[in-house]
Amino acid sequence: MKNKMKAVICTKYGPPEVLKLVEIEKPQHQDDEVLIRNYGTSINTVDMLHRGGKAPKVAFWGIKRLVGFFLRREFGGLRKPKQKIVGGGFVGEIVSIGTDVSDWSVGDHVYGYSEKGGACAEYMAVPASVLAKKPSNLSFQEAAAVPGGSTPALVAFRDLVTPNKGDKVLIIGASGGIGTFAVQMAKNVYGAEVTGVCGPTNVDMVKEIGADFVIDYSKEDYTKSDSKYDIILDVVSAQNLSKCKNILASEGTYIANNPISSPRNIFHIMTNNKRFKTGTADESAAAMNLICEWIEEGKIKPVIDTVYPLSQTVEAHRHYETGRSKGRVVISIE
Ligand SMILES: NC(=O)c1ccc[n+]([C@@H]2O[C@H](COP(=O)([O-])OP(=O)(O)OC[C@H]3O[C@@H](n4cnc5c(N)ncnc54)[C@H](OP(=O)(O)O)[C@@H]3O)[C@@H](O)[C@H]2O)c1
Repeated sequence: MKNKMKAVICTKYGPPEVLKLVEIEKPQHQDDEVLIRNYGTSINTVDMLHRGGKAPKVAFWGIKRLVGFFLRREFGGLRKPKQKIVGGGFVGEIVSIGTDVSDWSVGDHVYGYSEKGGACAEYMAVPASVLAKKPSNLSFQEAAAVPGGSTPALVAFRDLVTPNKGDKVLIIGASGGIGTFAVQMAKNVYGAEVTGVCGPTNVDMVKEIGADFVIDYSKEDYTKSDSKYDIILDVVSAQNLSKCKNILASEGTYIANNPISSPRNIFHIMTNNKRFKTGTADESAAAMNLICEWIEEGKIKPVIDTVYPLSQTVEAHRHYETGRSKGRVVISIE
């Protein structure tokens, strides 16, 4: 087996062009890790942070730089990225196993998310604790779209507010990487009546994945409608709780996918407002195994916008950064 592999590295912060395709040594796994031949990954907000690209919407322009600085320190390094190889979500085949790993075998097909990064590469050392079984009814490319995108939606409905059958759920940003999973989970896992909000070019797609109703935000100010929703999941920080009060049922809850997107969100967190919830993605093996079950049962499936080869990771980052993705942006590593 050759000792070199192709990988995309990021040695300094900057625009997508700082990413470079190189040939480097294959990683060595620790005793509690496995080495996988990685076949794909997909782009998430955290990849923008690793690269120092466009950060999520942040309240108060004045503190945007400060928040960017702390997020960068949290996810990367102060002056340059700590993790050279970008990408957290992976899908592949185990090729070697650490001496402390007993639950997995060489040849197993796995997927998941590693906070250590390293997924934009042909080989990746992954802690066994984050490995989950790859959904058997998806190709490697399709499965690469799942980690990162599905888990914020899972947390919203499993942990923050679980919809009862028939509850009215409004999903703002229904056409994006996270929103497409959220629509399918609310509808097919929890039996909610789902309304998706998206732009004009995505209306048909959001209907196709199961939304009962779709609102084109360019044609209708849904915050002024007479409808009442039990749960509003704002995936893309387009609104806030105050703006949605008119359309929230009396016992309803607004879920912010990005808690720091507006001063009002921060105020609701600080005052422990019971009608406001927020959380962070759960990328654990348990979460990924649950999502695998839902995929194999046909309840959810990834919606893929574009698949880029590893050599076009720069283009993939540019694409995601536009904020106009229709589902997930995937990188295939053949
Ligand atoms: N809580 C967590 O743990 C967690 C984890 C990861 C990310 N996040 C947050 O999730 C967000 C990114 O989500 P994503 O990856 O799903 O984004 P994405 O894939 O870039 O999705 C963007 C989609 O949103 C739609 N959109 C844009 N503006 C809209 C608006 N005003 N109203 C309704 N839809 C709109 C776009 O459609 P059009 O082109 O038609 O407008 C596009 O389809 C970020 O804010 C990030 O901070 C949270």
